[in-house]
Amino acid sequence: MPGIVIVGAQWGDEGKGKVTDLLAERGDAVVRFQGGNNAGHTIVRGGQTYKLHLMPSGILHPGKVCMIGNGVVIDPRVLTDELDDLRRQRVDTSELRISANAHLIMPYHLMLDDAGEARLGNLKIGTTRRGIGPCYADKAARLGIRVQDLLDPKILKQKIVAALEPKRLTLRPFAKDPRLDLQAMTEEYLTYGHRLEQYIHDTASLTWKLLDAGRTVIFEGAQGALLDIDHGTYPFVTSSNPVAGAACIGAGVGPKDIDEVWGITKAYATRVGAGPFPTEIDGELGESLRERGGEYGATTGRPRRVGWLDLVALRYAARINSLTALAVTKLDVLSGLDSISVCTSYRGGDETTFDEFPYHQTILHHAVGRYEELPGWSEDLSNCRTEEDLPAAARSYLDFVADFVGVPVTLVGVGPGREQVVWTAAARDTVPAQAVVA
Ligand code: GDP
Ligand code: IMO
Ligand code: MG
Repeated sequence: MPGIVIVGAQWGDEGKGKVTDLLAERGDAVVRFQGGNNAGHTIVRGGQTYKLHLMPSGILHPGKVCMIGNGVVIDPRVLTDELDDLRRQRVDTSELRISANAHLIMPYHLMLDDAGEARLGNLKIGTTRRGIGPCYADKAARLGIRVQDLLDPKILKQKIVAALEPKRLTLRPFAKDPRLDLQAMTEEYLTYGHRLEQYIHDTASLTWKLLDAGRTVIFEGAQGALLDIDHGTYPFVTSSNPVAGAACIGAGVGPKDIDEVWGITKAYATRVGAGPFPTEIDGELGESLRERGGEYGATTGRPRRVGWLDLVALRYAARINSLTALAVTKLDVLSGLDSISVCTSYRGGDETTFDEFPYHQTILHHAVGRYEELPGWSEDLSNCRTEEDLPAAARSYLDFVADFVGVPVTLVGVGPGREQVVWTAAARDTVPAQAVVA
């Protein structure tokens, strides 16, 4: 012990990478437990920007074990490219461990993702087109190819044949695509196997050993609560569970191995892709927040939709994740506004008020935020390092959020750099803060 889970409390891109990197400094290991290279986790350090898609965000700390757990879906082409890029940037990747049970994204998963979106037309989800949904679908259908299969040419080929069989009709438009050639695909994946073999491991057992020895293990989530396939805004979600409970499944530990759950939220809200977004801001203000916050996807470069902080959704995220702490990032982006709106309930299509996150899709699609106006501040926050450095209005804003959600704010982001954070007084009672600040 301790085990600390870091999850996105909104629609992804909250700053999980930055917070994981920070906590990893004093932790011993980082485990990614779900998602794939739909994730883009940015770390800004010493003027250099690292964009990680599959690599756990502890990789910049030499000597920390970084695991890709069984719950992750791995595109081995992307992973090997990421390894090459990091080595070029002189990052030591020798402590990477990849679960032998993690599933692989295959070339046909990318094609099926594209085909699925094309078929949906106007109703498309706006996926990252990285093959995530089709890969998890094959996992559930028991037609998945796993990392361990890369080490056995005969089994690999047999499994690819079995996986392709039920997809023949859908893949017909891609029949001439060289990526679908069975022999070439098998050989390509065997090459990845040779390359990755040194990292393949029983990551669950390694995690138990660390926890049993009293080491600190950070479980790094991807995406966010509202993109959860069970609890998010279905069907406009990803195909995995980004909530804290999934850390157990995707890393192979039990619920009692988790001591703390940190939810990361921006001081406002963003969403990439389609789907309901009750606090979305249209027009000039939305545009200016997008520019100020640099709100363009780390994976696809798409502009992110921007909105006010949605406390109805955040309280819901706190409940489904059992959040013990909130890290509020990008508070600096809100500087210069006369007043800041925070959503404290929704107005439904028929004027009904919803204080709690509605489960019904139709209600959610028509819901718009009802707001409280809080005073803004004009000061630049980027050099604030203590709570006292923050303007009174910024502190009141954070207090309002913590009170409404019922979870203490322990960490505040005031810029992209890893040093641009404010640890609050509440952080002193938390395990990760003791590990980091002590
Ligand atoms: P993740 O997917 O949750 O890891 O988040 P992303 O990396 O996709 O998006 C967060 C973006 O905000 C990145 O570009 C970070 O460098 C940046 N960022 C993180 N924290 C802060 C902060 O407190 N202030 C500002 N201005 N940028 C931040
Ligand atoms: P990180 O880890 C933001 C969104 C996509 C789309 C939906 C489904 O960086 O926070 P998928 O490709 O997963 O089938 O797409 O989920 N999405 C993300 N949005 N951040 C992410 O990851 C995301 N990963 C997927 O935009 O709406
Ligand atoms: Mg991201």
